[in-house]
Amino acid sequence: MKILVTGGAGFIGSNFIFYMRRKHPEYELICLDKLTYAGNMETLASVMDGPSFKFIRGDIADREAVYGIFEAEKPDVVVNFAAESHVDRSIENPAVFLETNVMGTQALLDACRKYGVQRYHQVSTDEVYGDLPLDRPDLFFTEQTPLHTSSPYSASKAAADLLCNAYQRTYGLPITISRCSNNYGPYQFPEKLIPLMIANALADKPLPVYGEGLNVRDWLYVEDHCAAIDLILEKGKVGQVYNIGGHNEMRNIDIVKRILSLLDKPESLITYVTDRKGHDMRYAIDPSFIHRELGWLPETRFEDGIQKTVRWYLENRDWWENIISGEYQSYYERMYGKR
Ligand code: NAD
Ligand code: TYD
Repeated sequence: MKILVTGGAGFIGSNFIFYMRRKHPEYELICLDKLTYAGNMETLASVMDGPSFKFIRGDIADREAVYGIFEAEKPDVVVNFAAESHVDRSIENPAVFLETNVMGTQALLDACRKYGVQRYHQVSTDEVYGDLPLDRPDLFFTEQTPLHTSSPYSASKAAADLLCNAYQRTYGLPITISRCSNNYGPYQFPEKLIPLMIANALADKPLPVYGEGLNVRDWLYVEDHCAAIDLILEKGKVGQVYNIGGHNEMRNIDIVKRILSLLDKPESLITYVTDRKGHDMRYAIDPSFIHRELGWLPETRFEDGIQKTVRWYLENRDWWENIISGEYQSYYERMYGKR
């Protein structure tokens, strides 16, 4: 089995590569990644020289390059993690989100049609469903919830999902789609809530909480997401969407306070800043379909996962300190300087 993993130098893609290496050492893995600001070769150091692994630097939206890779490698399966993934950056500059998330997905789908694959799996997000009100805790996103996006990021991901469905119905392409809730764990880029708060707390810098910190996200440890995708590849039904989440809804402010207490830092570091434009209030996945159909259940409780994650950032300071010393500085200044 030869799997083309796009975006494998990013957070979830790299964790997926590590997971698949352990679980299916016999599989051949090819990572295609453009190495944008979010991609990091250092993350892949432990697998780089290993057997049955190949790294190719390239852009999924570069159709010619993508066709060349399919021609040369003939992957059996494609798992598309490659994306621009940060909502705040999509508000600043939507164009690159359309280029990578929509046109990039289309180039991959066309390559799959041209060269043939056993499966194309699209890694999507619960953000395509929009948000839920805080005062309706009985509501959850199911696979039947209509798409109703809020940010340029989620709109681009929804467009890609619709293209996947269209290619399945029109051309019979064997696609599956997963829509997962917020992930956390090792190797997450420190622009996202959890690693950003850990990094700032360790530097005794203010922790910028948007609005009142009452927005709710449904957090899943990254390895549980990887296990779900592996199951979908093995047993998932072509044309099917699978929601992935672990019923772990938490308010942002409670996450931030938990991080501070784990690091033994004072809550006085919390700073309430101007809210994100169009900020989604609550995400909450109903994961009963993937549980019923494929037997998937999350294994990591939030309390264990957040402790493991904080420990990882403490033990791997080089990894994220390198990142925040570069382009990230000017991003941080633009995003938080006048907030
Ligand atoms: P990330 O930003 O950490 O990594 C994205 C990776 O894609 C990087 O390595 C980057 O270099 C690469 N990339 C970007 N543009 C590319 C292009 N044009 N061609 C090739 N490679 C390119 O993102 P992540 O958090 O690991 O998310 C991975 C996927 O999972 C995304 O599709 C995202 O929408 C989805 N997702 C993320 C979450 C989450 O909580 N992070 C939750 C649900 C779904
Ligand atoms: P984020 O990690 O960007 O994921 P997403 O917006 O895709 O869910 O943000 C998670 C939540 O944390 C979201 O409600 C926005 C909030 N947030 C802050 O309050 N401060 C921050 O500095 C960041 C990055 C996020």
